[in-house]
Formats: sequence, structure tokens, C-alpha cells
Amino acid sequence: MRRSSKWLYLAALALTPILTTAAVDNKDVIDYRQHIMSTLNEQAGALGEILSSAIPDDNVVAHLDALALTASTALKAFEPKVPGGEAKPEVWSNWAEFSKRMNEFAAMTAKMAKTAHEDGKDAALGQVVDALSCKGCHDTYRKEQAKK
Ligand code: HEC
Repeated sequence: MRRSSKWLYLAALALTPILTTAAVDNKDVIDYRQHIMSTLNEQAGALGEILSSAIPDDNVVAHLDALALTASTALKAFEPKVPGGEAKPEVWSNWAEFSKRMNEFAAMTAKMAKTAHEDGKDAALGQVVDALSCKGCHDTYRKEQAKK
């Protein structure tokens, strides 16, 4: 009895910081979706170096997988209606269109990754311009700010 209540106490202590920050914190919500976008940016940047032949293409399939996986997590990060950061209010006022775009982006990157596994990286890289429709969405939904 004593033993288990001690463990419960320790477990509660360990969870305290998580539970406190879990209380609705808009900054966390914005940080989270920006982390996901930054991940996309880094992976796209790595791929860009490979496409420009600056870097050998051995990791192409891994970068395409990383992009597809990250894209699949992006919509969830925008679900909490927390305007701010560089997100325009239209993300939520046009949610049907925004989420359709994000789902299409996820589907296209998933298809590109699948092509890489099944038909090879050259076939997959043929889809890169269509799949990485970053700018199309940003033009409508992101208000880019000078870097902090
Ligand atoms: C369906 C819409 C959509 C797509 C597709 C999309 N983004 Fe974004 N992106 C956004 C929105 C909205 C923001 C603003 C988020 C915020 O600041 O709250 C953003 C922000 C960013 C940022 C700034 C993050 C920061 O730290 O402030 C980067 C970098 C970025 N996106 C890169 C990309 C790249 C690279 C791709 C494609 C591989 C991409 N995005 C695809 C909507 C999109």
C-alpha cells in the first residue's frame, strides 16, 4: 500500500509540468504548427540541395518519406482555432478549403513517397513540383513576417 502510493505521488509529480502546460496555451499551439512547417522546410531544403546536384542523391527516399510523414501531421496542428503567428484568419474562416488543400498536399507527398519505393527515386522526383505546393497555400493562408 505505502509503496504504491509513493509511486503514485512520484508519477503525479512527474506529470505536473505536462498537465500544467496542457492547459490551453495559444503559444504552444502556434509553436507546434510552426515546428511542423519548419520540418517541412528543412526536408524540402535538403531535397533542393540534392536536386541541384550539390549533394549526392542517396537519401532521396528518406527525405520523401520524411516529407510525407510530416505532411500527414500538419492538418491536426491547425485544428485548434488559434489565430496568430503567420497564419491568416482565413485558415479558419475558410476551413473547408484550407483543410482540403492540406489533405491534398499530404496525399500528393504520400503518393510521391510511394512512387519512390515502388518505381525509384527518379520517377518520384518527377512529381516534386506538383507535390510540394507550399507556395500555393502560403499565398492564400500565410502572412510571412520578417524573421524573429
Ligand atoms: C495547406 C497550406 C500549407 C501548405 C501546403 C504548406 N504550408 Fe507552410 N504554412 C502554412 C501556414 C498557414 C503557415 C503559418 C503558420 C503560423 O505561423 O501559425 C505556414 C508557415 C510556414 C513556415 C514558417 C514557420 C515558422 O517557423 O514561422 C514555413 C518555413 C513553411 N510554412 C514551409 C512550408 C513548406 C516548405 C511547405 C511545403 C513543403 C509548406 N510550408 C506547405 C500553410 C501551408
